[in-house]
Amino acid sequence: MSQNKGFYITTPIYYVNDIPHIGHAYTTLAADILARYMRLKGKKVFFLTGTDEHGQKVEKAARERGRSPKEHADIMVENFKTLWNELNIRNDAFIRTTDEEHKKVVSAILQKLYDKGEIEKRKYSGMYCTPCERFWTAKDLIEGKCPDCGRDVEYIEEENYFFLMSKYQNSLIDYIEKNPEYILPETRKNEVLSFLKNKPLGDLCISRPRQRLSWGIPLPFDENYTTYVWFDALVNYYSALNYLAPKNIEWWPPDHHLIGKDILITHAVYWSTMLMALGMPLPRNIFAHGWWTVQGAKMSKSLGNVVNPHEIIKKYGVDTLRYFLFREVSFGLDGDFSEEAIVRRINNDLANDLGNLLNRFLVMNEKYMNGQISPMWIDDDFTIQIKKLITEIDNEKLWDEFKFNIVLEKIWEAISLTNNYIAKTEPWKISKEDSEKLSLILFNIWNSIRIITVFLYPFMPDTAMKIWNALGLKSLKIDYNMLSWSIQLKEVKTEKIEQIFPRIQTKKDNESEQKIKEDNSKMQELIGIEDFMKIKLKVGKVIEAERIKGSEKLIKLIVDIGQQRQIVAGIGKSYSPEQLIGKSIIVVSNLKPVKLMGVESQGMLLAATASDGTISILTVDREVNPGAGIK
Ligand code: MSP
Repeated sequence: MSQNKGFYITTPIYYVNDIPHIGHAYTTLAADILARYMRLKGKKVFFLTGTDEHGQKVEKAARERGRSPKEHADIMVENFKTLWNELNIRNDAFIRTTDEEHKKVVSAILQKLYDKGEIEKRKYSGMYCTPCERFWTAKDLIEGKCPDCGRDVEYIEEENYFFLMSKYQNSLIDYIEKNPEYILPETRKNEVLSFLKNKPLGDLCISRPRQRLSWGIPLPFDENYTTYVWFDALVNYYSALNYLAPKNIEWWPPDHHLIGKDILITHAVYWSTMLMALGMPLPRNIFAHGWWTVQGAKMSKSLGNVVNPHEIIKKYGVDTLRYFLFREVSFGLDGDFSEEAIVRRINNDLANDLGNLLNRFLVMNEKYMNGQISPMWIDDDFTIQIKKLITEIDNEKLWDEFKFNIVLEKIWEAISLTNNYIAKTEPWKISKEDSEKLSLILFNIWNSIRIITVFLYPFMPDTAMKIWNALGLKSLKIDYNMLSWSIQLKEVKTEKIEQIFPRIQTKKDNESEQKIKEDNSKMQELIGIEDFMKIKLKVGKVIEAERIKGSEKLIKLIVDIGQQRQIVAGIGKSYSPEQLIGKSIIVVSNLKPVKLMGVESQGMLLAATASDGTISILTVDREVNPGAGIK
C-alpha cells in the first residue's frame, strides 16, 4: 500500500427520518474512538458519517408535514448533527445524499455501469415492501409478510432496471474466503458466506418508476425512473472523497465500513459486487456490530423503550456513556442497556478505581512533593509490569479489530496495578529522610497515570483532558509520543481537582446507610453497666392490695422491700387485688415518688405486656427474702 494512504473509516449514513437513539450513537462513537486512536498514532484520518435522505419514507413524512422533502431533511438532519456534537464526535465530514456533488457521482456511476452492460432493463414482478423499499421473492416471505419488518407486502408487476449482481456470486465467495478480515466478526463472515453459498444470488433491482417514487436521483439513462435508495446511499462512501476529503492523500479503499448487523447483506453483497463491477478495490474491512436491546427487547417507538442519548448524557455525562457502551459489551455482540448497569460501572470502575487513583495521587503529591514531579528512571517490579501492560494495550490489532472491551479491560488492569502499588508501598509511611524513595514512587504513579490517560483519551476525551491538566501537562498535546515511559519533561506541577466521577447513590447504598443509621442510634440507646447499677431493684412481698376508687386500672399495693412501701400500679385490668397478695414481685426502689390519681406511688413494679395487652408481673421463681437486691 502506498505511503500516502490515509486511514478512512465510515459509519452508515442514517435515515434522516429517525430521531437518533443510542443504537445510532453506538456506531458513530465506535468510529470516533478508532479515528481518535489513529490520529493519536499520527495517522492521517478521514472519518465520514452522514444522512440517507432519499426515498419514499422521507417523501411521505414531508408531505404529511406540508413540507418539501428537502425542507424536511434540512430540519431532521440537525438532530444528528446536534447529537454528534454533544457526544464529542470528531467526524471529518458529514455527507448528505441530497448534496449536489453526491448526486452527480451516483449518476456518473450508474452511467458507467450501464455503458459497461452491468445494468439491464427487465420486466419484473415480485412482492414489494413499501416501508423497507425492497422487493422480496415469495420464498423470502415469512407467513406472507416482509421478512425484515413483518409488515404486509404487495404484489407488483413493472419494468425496472437491474444491476447484474448474480454474475459476481462466485468471485465474491472467493474474495471473502481469501481475505479473512474482509468481513468481521467471524460469525458475520460465515453468515454472508452461507447466504451466498446456499442459494443463487439474484440480480438487484436498482430503479423505481418515477410515478411511484420521485424523491431520489433520476437514472441518467432513463428519466422515468428514480434510483433505488440503497444504490444511492452506498455510493456515499465513494462520492464523499470527491468533494469532502482532503486532497493529495489516497483514501481509497476504505479501511473500515462500520455498520450494524441489520445492514450486513446490503454492504457485504450489494456494495461489494457494485465495486467489483466498477473494477474498484474493495474496502479492507466491513465490521458489523451487534444491537442494543432494552430488557431483551428491540428498541422501538411502539414499545416506547427507545433510549434517548440526550437524557443519558444529561444524567450521567458524555464520557460515562462513551465508556459504558464499549466496556459493557464486546463490540460485535448484542448488549442489553440498563441504567443500573451504568451506575454499577460508574461506582466501581470510574469512581472507585480511576477516580480514587487520581485523587490519592494528587493529594499525596501535593502534600509530600508540593506538586513537583522529579523524573527518575529506576525499574522495579511495578514499572516492569506496567510497561508490559502498556505494550499490550498499544497493540494496533486490538484497536483495528474493534476489541474495545479488551483494550478497556487492560487499561483497568493498569489502573488496578497502580492502585496496588500505592497500597504496597504505603508512601504515607515513608519518612522524610527517605525523600528519594518517596519521590521515585510518586513519579512512577504519575507516569503510569499519564500513560493510562493517553489510552483513555479516544474513549473519554473530556475526562482524559481533565486528568492530563491535573497531571501538570496542560502545555503538551496528547499524542503517540506520550505513550513512551521515559519521556523527558521540563517543570511539571500537579494540581488537585474535584473527584472526576462522584459515586452515585444506589437503592442498595441507601438501604445500607439506613441500616447503619439505625444500628448507630441503637448503639446510642445502649447503656453501660454503671447506668444499670443506678437502678435499685429489690424483691418485694405484697402485703396489701386495693383498687383506687374511680380507676379500672390502678391498684394500690403495700409492699415489703425490707421496709414498707406504697406503690400504685396500672395492673387492675389483668389482676384482682386478691391475686396479688402474697406475691414476690420486683420493685424499682429508688424512683422519685409520683402521685397517680392523688395517691402517692413510692416505686414501680416490673411487669411484661403480652400482645393482647394482658399484663404479667415479674416475680422470682424461688422463695427470696423481701428486700433482696437484684443484679
Ligand atoms: N440508511 C441506512 C444505511 C445506509 S448506509 C449506506 C440505514 N439507516 S438507519 O438509520 O436505519 O441506521 C442503521 C444503523 O444504525 C445500523 O446499521 C446500526 O449501525 C445503527 N443502529 C440502529 N439501531 C441499533 C441498535 N438498536 N443497536 C445498535 N445499533 C443500531 O440503515
